[in-house]
Amino acid sequence: METTLIILKPDAVQRSLVGRIIARLEDKGLQVVGMKLMRIDEALAARHYADHRQKPFYPGLVRFMTSSPVVVLAVRGLGAITICRNLMGATFGSKAAAGTIRGDFGVSNSFNLIHGSDSPEAAAKELGLFFAPGEVVDYSRPGDAWVYDTTGGRPE
Ligand code: RTP
Ligand code: MG
Repeated sequence: METTLIILKPDAVQRSLVGRIIARLEDKGLQVVGMKLMRIDEALAARHYADHRQKPFYPGLVRFMTSSPVVVLAVRGLGAITICRNLMGATFGSKAAAGTIRGDFGVSNSFNLIHGSDSPEAAAKELGLFFAPGEVVDYSRPGDAWVYDTTGGRPE
């Protein structure tokens, strides 16, 4: 099982889309194993977006991400990183395909509702930035016997 970091960005919280976006992740069969509402400060935004520090959009990105609370989630499933990125869609709502979160809920070329880790290395780093030990909780869901085929001994 893979665990990825999802951030429901300030525009998702302000537009009251949190429940509908989380429902899409749950509807897919993914498991929420960590969740909190928080305000990202500049230092945390800088660490999270360190790879983008030299990009022209970086100051605006940090301003946006620190402007209002976000909801951070640890989301688990087989292939959760790629599955979440596919559910999110292309970076901006103007281009994202219909049926994706960004494609269905946004039109902006700046605000884009959701972040998802883009690799196992990024997920490990980002989960460590946003969740303290113990805040990501392992638990079983009996219904997963119908989400995954476990008859071979491991989830497929
Ligand atoms: P994210 O990291 O937030 O999941 O989004 P992403 O992988 O689709 O996009 P990425 O290239 O990693 O960019 C990170 C965030 O920076 C903002 N951005 N603005 N104005 C621009 O050209 C621009 N490009 C990127 C977006 O908020 C994007 O999600
Ligand atoms: Mg990215």
